[in-house]
Amino acid sequence: MSSVRGEFSSRFGFIMAAAGSAVGLGNIWGFPTQTASNGGAAFVFVYLILAFCLAYPAFMAELVIGRHGQANAVTALRKIAPTQPKFAFAVGFGGIICAALILSFYAIVAGWMLSATLAPIATVTDLKATADWLNQQSLGRDLLFTALFIMLTIAIISKGVENGIEKWSKRLMPALLGILFLLIAYVLTQEGATQGLRAYLVPDFSQVFNPDLLVSALGQAFFSLSLGTSVMIIYGSYIAKNENLVSLGAYVTLIDVFIAFTAGLLIIPAMYVAQAQGVEIFSANGTLLSEDTLVFQVLPALFNSMGTIGLVVAFAFFALMSIAALTSSISMLEAPVSYTVENFGMNRLQATWLIGGVIAVVSFVIVFNFSSLFGFVIALTTQFGQPLIGMFCCIFAGWMWHRHKLLAEIQAGFEGVEHSLFWKIWPWYIKFICPLAIALVFFNSL
Ligand code: PFF
Repeated sequence: MSSVRGEFSSRFGFIMAAAGSAVGLGNIWGFPTQTASNGGAAFVFVYLILAFCLAYPAFMAELVIGRHGQANAVTALRKIAPTQPKFAFAVGFGGIICAALILSFYAIVAGWMLSATLAPIATVTDLKATADWLNQQSLGRDLLFTALFIMLTIAIISKGVENGIEKWSKRLMPALLGILFLLIAYVLTQEGATQGLRAYLVPDFSQVFNPDLLVSALGQAFFSLSLGTSVMIIYGSYIAKNENLVSLGAYVTLIDVFIAFTAGLLIIPAMYVAQAQGVEIFSANGTLLSEDTLVFQVLPALFNSMGTIGLVVAFAFFALMSIAALTSSISMLEAPVSYTVENFGMNRLQATWLIGGVIAVVSFVIVFNFSSLFGFVIALTTQFGQPLIGMFCCIFAGWMWHRHKLLAEIQAGFEGVEHSLFWKIWPWYIKFICPLAIALVFFNSL
């Protein structure tokens, strides 16, 4: 570690950590579900374009702000616009609150994944009552597993950047890829898979300009790259000055999109395989019967129909989901923790337990008032918080920062950047195109 603040020790470490933040339930659950309910391949097509042309430039804005500031989001934004400290606070702190709120609902869903990972083990070991308890939603089960998941997140974050975030991301991300490929190989050998592949890969171009599809695709791209939460500002701040930010950001975007696309190769064919086995998934006109039940009814039904091997597949699948969720949740907790440590001089261990504890309480409140709060917190953070804060980050980088300083930050660690396409178009992108496009999508979604 080259500084007291903590820093990623290697390129690979940063890429795994930032890709770990990006790759999560949003990729493996959210993306395939959105694809299935937005007309299949047309959604995939639009998503790919928006992810690279809008989300990647916005992502770069957050990384550059963080690396320049070498500090938490509030301080980093203040360094860019020293004359606007209140505005910088509102955007930086807003992002931190957004990350904490996302964690409060994400931990509940991740808790479901943990209990679904243990259920097949209980079945195999003949603990039938336990397996039933794990499989059925109840207050007790949800509270226990939400708490457990938050504790796992706290355990990693309390260890800091190199020994916590980096070390665990480097182990968990490759494991995730391995499990994903094994599951795909299995599903593609099953009857019905080819039909699923066709629905996933052959677009109906008449759907491409459907406004609902555009809004969903941009929202999904923002959630997937963890934008508008100050997470990428703080991860950017742990990158050394001699690293090439442009390529680091590109790698992370590529990995994120690749995993979402690959998860689609698993889930969409799996839906058709399940349908071929008699599970009802699509209505007569081809629309998805229910979005929420995809992971908890469709897939378990598919696993059940496989007999004993289904238990192994179910275990692998939900372990995969839990791992993906964990590498994302640690980034959400790092945002408020780094702010508290740097701003109030608290030590990391105390700050992590304190903030993790507060977030656990918020999660419990959501569990107790599930029907009124769960959807509300998701909408508040993902439809309002993330796009707005993401847009303001572009405005900070594009309008409030001296252009030559912005360019100097990009130049650090990237020799010859002046000759790249990135250099020519990115500053314009974050100045005009990104804020406008985000605002457009935002107002559309109102
Ligand atoms: N990108 C994560 C996913 O796709 O599941 C979710 C996420 C992580 C959102 C971190 C926001 C965040 F700050």
